[in-house]
Amino acid sequence: MAFVIAVAQRKGGAGKSTIAANLAAAYAEEGARVALLDIDPQRTLARWDELRGRSAKARPLHFEAPTGWRLPSVLDRLRRESDVVLLDTAPHDDSDARTAVRAADLVLVPLQPSPADLWSMDATLDLAKKEGRTLALVLNRAPASGRLLDQVTAQIAQRGLPLAGAALGNRTAFAQAFMSGLGAVEAAPKGVAAAEARALAAALRALQGR
Ligand SMILES: Nc1ncnc2c1ncn2[C@@H]1O[C@H](COP(=O)(O)OP(=O)(O)OP(=O)(O)O)[C@@H](O)[C@H]1O
Ligand SMILES: [Mg+2]
Repeated sequence: MAFVIAVAQRKGGAGKSTIAANLAAAYAEEGARVALLDIDPQRTLARWDELRGRSAKARPLHFEAPTGWRLPSVLDRLRRESDVVLLDTAPHDDSDARTAVRAADLVLVPLQPSPADLWSMDATLDLAKKEGRTLALVLNRAPASGRLLDQVTAQIAQRGLPLAGAALGNRTAFAQAFMSGLGAVEAAPKGVAAAEARALAAALRALQGR
């Protein structure tokens, strides 16, 4: 049975699609059978996948964009056929995003170290808690150090929220890879962004089965 990770956060632009794509590429690099589902009407990852088809560096992964009544049955099938299923959800409350959270073994909530991202995630956290899902926050576009980072991590700790043991920095390499339909591990395998994507993939694996 697959490890199902739903990437969810109501705040637009927090990094859901970037993280879902980069985790998918990182798990594919490990040789896992990866399914990536875009259930956001913006279809960001559907476009990423189209570009992917033209790149020789892209490792095989299964992509689908199921919506509505098709989503639960697609999830059931891919849970059986894959090692990892990643879902990229919309930045607003919709029933597909709720289905994704309910189906997830892990709800991954990206946030940039900013008050706006901290304040916007409560609805997602409440739903994950209500559904009894394992939760992990991940800092995205995080500086290596600084006062704001300290304040945000202190607030996360104060609230007793679980923070993934790996973060992604603010790196053009992520956006650059995305432009070619790739993850950082494929576009620049020796780069810092690739190392961060692999570290996050490993940190989440450690949460599997919790
Ligand atoms: N770690 C990062 N370093 C640099 N740029 C990043 C990083 N993460 C995301 N971005 C950029 O930030 C923007 C928003 O990222 P992304 O589309 O992944 O967010 P999202 O949460 O999926 O947005 P939406 O809520 O609209 O679906 C994009 O331009 C992306 O390239
Ligand atoms: Mg998105």
